[in-house]
Amino acid sequence: MKKILVTRKLLKSNEDRVSKIFDTKLNLNDELYSQKKLIELSKGCDGILSSLTDKLDEQTINQLSNTTKIISNFAVGFGNIDLEAAKKRKIAVTNTPDVLTDATAEITMLLILGAARRASEGIEHAKKSNWKWSADFLIGKQLTGARLGILGMGRIGRAVAKLARAFGMIIHYHNRSKLSSKLEMGAIYHDNIKSLFSVSDILSINCPATKETENIINAESLEYFPTGAIITNSARGDMIDDEAMINALSRRKIYALGLDVYKGEPKLNPGYLNIKDVFILPHLGSATKQTRTAMANLAINNLDEFFKTGRCKNKVN
Ligand code: DGY
Repeated sequence: MKKILVTRKLLKSNEDRVSKIFDTKLNLNDELYSQKKLIELSKGCDGILSSLTDKLDEQTINQLSNTTKIISNFAVGFGNIDLEAAKKRKIAVTNTPDVLTDATAEITMLLILGAARRASEGIEHAKKSNWKWSADFLIGKQLTGARLGILGMGRIGRAVAKLARAFGMIIHYHNRSKLSSKLEMGAIYHDNIKSLFSVSDILSINCPATKETENIINAESLEYFPTGAIITNSARGDMIDDEAMINALSRRKIYALGLDVYKGEPKLNPGYLNIKDVFILPHLGSATKQTRTAMANLAINNLDEFFKTGRCKNKVN
């Protein structure tokens, strides 16, 4: 039986399943392992079922046990893993695409609505019971007819477009390559971010975190937006230069911001806390029972497929 280190606590049904197929080292107290501890625990393990909270950088990967042949990440994103370092050590890295597309698109709509309709301020007023209805009380922005720019038109971007169309939004997008008209479904392609941002009343960030997309929202690119635009991020915090964003919010260049992800999370730039037009969630994109169960099952299937065939269709390095 192959030995697997499971770095975070999974839902019960997933822990039962992984323990039936493999000899597992579970993390029953859901401790956040340090890199040193990950290295120590990897000893004798054939694979690691990791999560986005495990920082598997080059130094850590180089010290993992020689027995470790696969890191199966319990996430579609894999910015927490140095893919090149893993490749050099002949360690396969896999992810969990598809299964979290709908849940993440749903949370994106929550961010868009929360930011556009001033939900954070509304919640505060409702809790304090100190509000009085009036014709101009907490007036927000309507989605109907608004132009939604989608940065990254992969599976999640396209699922966001599908939901946004139901709200009457007009879809624009930028992607490394133009999609087929079947996948575009009428969305308007922009071959550069300046062009996309300049028509985005609302921008949804749905691209992967890479060296190219790091701080793609910065002091210069924020100026491309129409004044009063809204930005949401349900992908990874690395894409936003937080200081530039806080500045743009404070001078109302950007009307509101919806965030589910942060640089260095769970910490967030404290500057956001003083701005009422920021709607924030604690990385809940995939947080439904259905999706988390499917993600862990896929991470387990990836391990199983790899050990049975030496390959895995969800290998990313
Ligand atoms: C992912 O899978 O990358 C998500 O962010 C996890 O919630």
